Amino acid sequence: MFNNPVDFSKVAVGITAVGSYFPTEVVANDYFSGYLDTSEAWILERTGIRERRRASPEQASSDLAFEAARGALAMRGIVPAELDCIIVATVTPDMLFPATACLLQKRLEAFGAFCFDLNAACSGFLYALHVAVSLIRSGAQHRILLVGVDTMSSILDYQDRSTCVLFGDGAGAVVVEALENPELGVLDTLLRSDGRGGEYLFLPAGGSRKPASPETVQEGEHYIRQFGKQVFRHAYPEMAKVSLEVLERNGLTVAELDLFVPHQANLRIIEACAREMGLPLTKAFVNIDRYGNTTNATIPSCLHEAYREGRLHRGSLVQLTTFGAGFAWGSTLLRWAIE
Ligand code: COA
Repeated sequence: MFNNPVDFSKVAVGITAVGSYFPTEVVANDYFSGYLDTSEAWILERTGIRERRRASPEQASSDLAFEAARGALAMRGIVPAELDCIIVATVTPDMLFPATACLLQKRLEAFGAFCFDLNAACSGFLYALHVAVSLIRSGAQHRILLVGVDTMSSILDYQDRSTCVLFGDGAGAVVVEALENPELGVLDTLLRSDGRGGEYLFLPAGGSRKPASPETVQEGEHYIRQFGKQVFRHAYPEMAKVSLEVLERNGLTVAELDLFVPHQANLRIIEACAREMGLPLTKAFVNIDRYGNTTNATIPSCLHEAYREGRLHRGSLVQLTTFGAGFAWGSTLLRWAIE
């Protein structure tokens, strides 16, 4: 596509295809009110979630990722052999190792790619997008498949009403490449972390700090632990702040945004973030009502849905903003590159 020598650091890089996949089983709010001390109204009012999807016992993250990846590759009209890198952003890998990206590579038969997983909790997709764009701008890579996937049902305690109602399973995939049009693609990214937030959302056991044992399983320490109020309190102001900061340093305003795609953790977080930014809620893309918080899949699956609904056109100014465990958060500004 480019005549050598090329200064790749100046090359426009963007998303050239998108796909998503959700398991077929729908778990509506009345499922939980059937056996837990909760109600459909509480879940809807406090989170905006009506239903979420749950993977079948045979499905792991690489299976969900495979379906989303196939969709993205088909949209781009390429075969897996044309990929030179696969990144999977996930907190629910099939197993601790090998990387889920390698398992996906095997399913896709994408043997020309090097593959790795990236864990930045709910913010993994945006962190990985930044890595993918940077790899391409370094000149090292040309065509990267990036999948955000989580099988949250595998780490949920279905007796803990404060977490089990929040999450769902799903996958979103994008192809990231250099673009011919310098006006399009990723304009800027600002990522932040604050390890002091780590104690508010974590998975206690199964790592080197507390290896899995009969005792840890007995205590349910292989499930998510969350102090929801603390996460909530940090999430929306930081999301708003980082979003405004990246807009400002690019000389852009909220009014110029065509679409705001926030991580889907809680509708009230999205509303509060929009309020802080002075962003009309109509500009924020929301699908949490149907899928819950799918962790690494929220942003790419929102992009796929927004594109299918005709809310994204070539040149649309889009802001992606995320927040999650770590704490890790950030925002990316891009001009949509797909016709
Ligand atoms: N049904 C009924 N009551 C519930 C409930 C449920 N599913 N889950 C929690 N409650 C109860 C709590 O036990 C608490 O009861 P108490 O007052 O007797 O202790 C009460 O509701 C209020 O809990 P609180 O945590 O203050 O509710 P909240 O309005 O903050 O909503 C969350 C709880 C988890 C929905 C909310 O804090 C949240 O979304 N936090 C951020 C989560 C998040 O974004 N995580 C992922 C980051 S990527």
